[in-house]
Amino acid sequence: MSDKPEKFIDENGLRLDGRQIDEIRQMKIKIGVLSRADGSCYLEWGNNKVLVAVYGPRELHPRRLQKADSALIRYRYNMAAFSVEDRIRPGPSRRSIEISKVSREAFEPVVMTHLYPGAVIDVFAEVLQADAGTRTAAINAASLALADAGIPMKGLVAACAVGKVDGQLVLDLNKAEDNYGQADFPVAITQDGEITLLQMDGDLTQEEFKKALEMCKEGCRQIMEMQKEALRSKFADDLLAVQVPDEAAESIDVAATLEDVVEEDIIEEDVGAEEVSEEPSEETSEDDLAISEDAEIELAEDELVAEELDESDADEKIPDVEVEFVDLLDEEADEEADDEDKEVASEGSETREQ
Ligand code: CDP
Repeated sequence: MSDKPEKFIDENGLRLDGRQIDEIRQMKIKIGVLSRADGSCYLEWGNNKVLVAVYGPRELHPRRLQKADSALIRYRYNMAAFSVEDRIRPGPSRRSIEISKVSREAFEPVVMTHLYPGAVIDVFAEVLQADAGTRTAAINAASLALADAGIPMKGLVAACAVGKVDGQLVLDLNKAEDNYGQADFPVAITQDGEITLLQMDGDLTQEEFKKALEMCKEGCRQIMEMQKEALRSKFADDLLAVQVPDEAAESIDVAATLEDVVEEDIIEEDVGAEEVSEEPSEETSEDDLAISEDAEIELAEDELVAEELDESDADEKIPDVEVEFVDLLDEEADEEADDEDKEVASEGSETREQ
């Protein structure tokens, strides 16, 4: 562990990492990074790197654990063995059990669990690299992974910490400030301003406590903006991939319907259907899938629905269909010795060679 710095804040009021006292670390967010999870998010915050996967709502086993009137949320915070300087012993620790509990409680007021009696929603938060503030980083990522899974929520949850170094309150502690500071005060806040997590290590006066809370609220407000932007940009990317018109994009509720819209349109685009009806019906999907079978695409409907294809994936599939089709033309051309068909076949061979 590095030694305690002599001073945490220099004569210009800047911290050791060059930040202002009320400045949060840079955050990078990527939503939907795991194809098997129902929702996922990778988040970097300063030197923290966390990955969150959400599974569910799904039936809870053993059944005796089921709640008759709501879904159960399970939250597992885990630090990878290699995430810190000293190796972390694998398996739950007192600290990780505590963080898992308080993080789960941070989401309970917003997740609409009453919609899924008997179900479970599993949140797995894996800390890949730790550098102070991992519980808050994981909560920020979990909030987006839950939204990505399409789980109905009253709003997002954002979290950050305030601490005290050199007798001054500072927002979003870095490692040295966390290790050697006089206080650590992590807070999670919902979109409605409700505080769903509040912990405190160290000492703060009543005045400092009030000020720290205000700083946390401001930090969480900024984080929530970034979370919303990340959702918007994921939504926009998906729409770009499936070419949904802008007007439709504006009218769609991201958290609730993003997956449905994207999945339906992927089916249509993937099978190469030229005509996409404005309101896709079950009939349309079946027709399209029939075309898919003719073209000998071996993907099952479930796989198509489950896959989140980006633009490049979609591009890769279309040539496959063309090659199959050209093969058929090749055979017909041989049999009937039709000049026109031959021309198409030779063009097709070129395509295949490319
Ligand atoms: O990470 P967070 O601030 O939520 O929790 P903490 O218990 O205050 O830990 C602060 C930091 O100490 C972590 O982010 C890690 O960088 C480090 N740490 C460590 O090196 N080894 C541990 N077993 C636990 C924490």
